Amino acid sequence: MSLRAGFESLERETQVDTLSIEGDIPAWLQGSLIRTGPAKFEVGDESYRHWFDGLGMLHAFQFQGGDVSYANRFIESGSYCEARDEGRIVRSEFGTDPCRSIFKRAAQILSPDEVTDNANINVTKLAGQYVSMTETPPPIAFDDETLETEGYFEFDDDVDGDVTTAHPHRDTDRSHVYNYLTAFGRRSTYRIYRQPFESRTREVISEIDVNTPRYMHSFGASQQYVILVEFPVVIYPLQMVFRGETFAEHLIWEPDRGTRIRVIDKESGELVGTGTTEPFFAFHHINAFEQDGELVVDLVAYPDTGIIDDLYLDELRNETTSLVAGQMRRLRMSPEAENIRHERLFDEYLELPRIHPSRVGRRHRHVWAGSQGESAPFVNQIAAFDLDDREVSTWHEPSCYPGEPIFVERPDAEAEDDGVLLSIVLDTDEETSFLLVLDAATLEPIGRARVSHHVPFGFHAQYFDEGPEVRDG
Ligand SMILES: [Fe+2]
Repeated sequence: MSLRAGFESLERETQVDTLSIEGDIPAWLQGSLIRTGPAKFEVGDESYRHWFDGLGMLHAFQFQGGDVSYANRFIESGSYCEARDEGRIVRSEFGTDPCRSIFKRAAQILSPDEVTDNANINVTKLAGQYVSMTETPPPIAFDDETLETEGYFEFDDDVDGDVTTAHPHRDTDRSHVYNYLTAFGRRSTYRIYRQPFESRTREVISEIDVNTPRYMHSFGASQQYVILVEFPVVIYPLQMVFRGETFAEHLIWEPDRGTRIRVIDKESGELVGTGTTEPFFAFHHINAFEQDGELVVDLVAYPDTGIIDDLYLDELRNETTSLVAGQMRRLRMSPEAENIRHERLFDEYLELPRIHPSRVGRRHRHVWAGSQGESAPFVNQIAAFDLDDREVSTWHEPSCYPGEPIFVERPDAEAEDDGVLLSIVLDTDEETSFLLVLDAATLEPIGRARVSHHVPFGFHAQYFDEGPEVRDG
């Protein structure tokens, strides 16, 4: 089996009470790791084109006294059910378009029933309900035990928008989730909102009108501010209606515009500042925090949007994509978004970065991420970045390709890195995947729990404690 398996469909849904364990799984882990990601890349004789298009599947590893159970199940989104029932690709995805007529396309923009709802990017908990998310609202609710789809998460408000992010920020000081929607139109609007942890009602705190909305996969949030880093990836909404291309092909790289940064006060909703800096691109913010009267914004930066093209399935399966990761970049600026400076923090290439959940919005010392070693065809390491000592350590084993590493704090931990990392790893020699538990401080393996099949490469996972508190980043 080769790396290619990570981009091949997994059709089988399973439920296993006890996985076989190598090493030890800490008994203090009492909760579950739930990950979403693409898992089905063909429907009938049609194929999705981009990695982001694959129909979403949930994988859950549940920890109980050192034992681990496992379940995987497709998310029964509209995209999934219609494809299953009709035996063809019905809804347009990020990089795949089922070739509609222009009239149908116009209808699609207007009708939420026909937009993709393939929730394969991230999971979280809203108002006590587990949900899986993509970049179009609303999220899809599921049962955390059976992974059965429960339907759309129902908001109790009339807040509207066409696209959103699957990276909401949980502000534990305020007990609110922050996120934003973009409403497309002749003039488009960013609608930044907050939602109390236990409520279904969103409150819009700020609306910003823009002529040319940008594509942002995530955003920054410090304790006081929401930070929109608008890379020069421009969307022309009217062209989307009338020109037959996929969403990916409507993301236009216009570097001359530079990267615009907007800082919004989380309490008042006031736009505190707007600034412009050099063009670059990122999917993922790592963290943002205030320090010495300045705003610090860390993210995984790419020189341009070439990475989006590099993630078409043909490229990935044939290993013609040489680099799938970016570099850790720190932006410093005044809260008014003036005097913006850039610094590359490390030379390593990384993606899917995570920090300690309690450091979100605050200064952090440690970042964990997947990283791509020299001449490796894909992310083949887990890296621990120590920002105080500017040191990097890595975990790597031959033929192993890890996914996002999720940090879980040890009970009574004293240090920021006192805990474990959980990551789903594809082992191309064994032709299966396993859940890896690493010591977060040393990257020494503690234990692993193997499933009987491959788990296609996916995106984000969260660890949910058995208690009411959700721990995500
Ligand atoms: Fe993401």
